[in-house]
Amino acid sequence: MPATTLNCRACGADHGLTEAAVCSTCFGPLDPAYDFDKARRELTRERIAAGPLSLWRYADLLPVAPPAEPRIAPGFTPLVPAPRLATVVGVRELYLKLDTANPTHSFKDRVVAVAAARAQQLGLRTLSCSSTGNLANAVAARAAAEGLEAAVFCPADLEPEKLVATSVYGATIYAVDGTYDDCSRLTIELSFELPWGFVNVGLRAYYAEGSKTLAFEIAEQLDWRVPDVVVAPIASGAMFSKVAQGFDDFIELGLVDGPRPRLIGGQAEGCSPVATAFESGEPFVPVRPDSIARSLAIGNPADGNYAVEAARASGGAIHAVAEDSIGLNMSLLAETSGVFGETATGVTLGALREAVARGEVDDSDRVVLLVTGDGLKTPGPVADRFDPVRVNADADALLESLGVV
Ligand SMILES: Cc1ncc(COP(=O)(O)O)c(C=O)c1O
Ligand SMILES: [Zn+2]
Repeated sequence: MPATTLNCRACGADHGLTEAAVCSTCFGPLDPAYDFDKARRELTRERIAAGPLSLWRYADLLPVAPPAEPRIAPGFTPLVPAPRLATVVGVRELYLKLDTANPTHSFKDRVVAVAAARAQQLGLRTLSCSSTGNLANAVAARAAAEGLEAAVFCPADLEPEKLVATSVYGATIYAVDGTYDDCSRLTIELSFELPWGFVNVGLRAYYAEGSKTLAFEIAEQLDWRVPDVVVAPIASGAMFSKVAQGFDDFIELGLVDGPRPRLIGGQAEGCSPVATAFESGEPFVPVRPDSIARSLAIGNPADGNYAVEAARASGGAIHAVAEDSIGLNMSLLAETSGVFGETATGVTLGALREAVARGEVDDSDRVVLLVTGDGLKTPGPVADRFDPVRVNADADALLESLGVV
């Protein structure tokens, strides 16, 4: 069910299905609105369960109709129990939401699928974005799948794995001498001049909405129940805020019972304006990022204050995680669950551990931790784990060294 209009989240103004990036009155973000009365009458668990095994199973709650031919559609990623990690961390039940299973191995495939569907509806031929890496991957792959052009703007000093994984799809990479925030400013300026689909500028209302499907899937995969706690990383804060809205939508439609899960957010200490704002109770103050968690290195987060609000309204929290613990958390996750998450996931696990240490989460809780990106794109912080046993191809010698003969 395509959205009926776009409403400003800050002042409530109704903008129709505008192509503007933000509210023309107050610059607030725009949220798609739906005919909820119709959805309440027509949308059932059974109808969703009979849908495709992708995020398009929630098309009734997405702002744009699915593409006629959904190619390499993201979503419906596994939700798996991690009992050994649960024991180490000290929670009763812990699930990992494996968004590494998406086509380009991060949750960004979700937001891009929705924005790209809108771009195609508008007849745009080039997809573009500013990116900390994963979004560029997702835009490049989606453009390749749909036969569109891709032009992406990233900080020049990003992890090489992310830049290569973007160029392979044939995208034009503009490597910007600056931070993500410089890239963002540049794309906002360009968006006034170029007829491109900037997924996180002009198409942002559609783009952000794709993250709601994380909440929808978690609820459905837990047999139509909400968990007690969801732990997620925060960069711009868009995903975190939309996960909260996703649970609210399902509760409002009667598809699950409330209350909304407590939302715990994580930021790396070297770029933690949203965690600082949560702590201080004041609006966030932009920072210049200096963090190994490059995918989360946004110093001026567009939805930062909304992320704080979402955490607070749910009874959750947002924590800054020490830079030198990020690699250790990546290793801990891998060793106890078999999942190699990226630096952002090291931050997310760090936030969960901090929440447990503070008594915000305890052993009565059922917790879901979002693994939003793949460690193969950010191997740097765990590279020192590579310490092989050098041997000759000599079984006798090896058996002897093992004390077998
Ligand atoms: C792996 C990963 N997780 C989380 C995020 C945070 O997303 P948001 O900017 O919506 O807060 C990003 C953003 O780039 C990311 O790449
Ligand atoms: Zn407004």
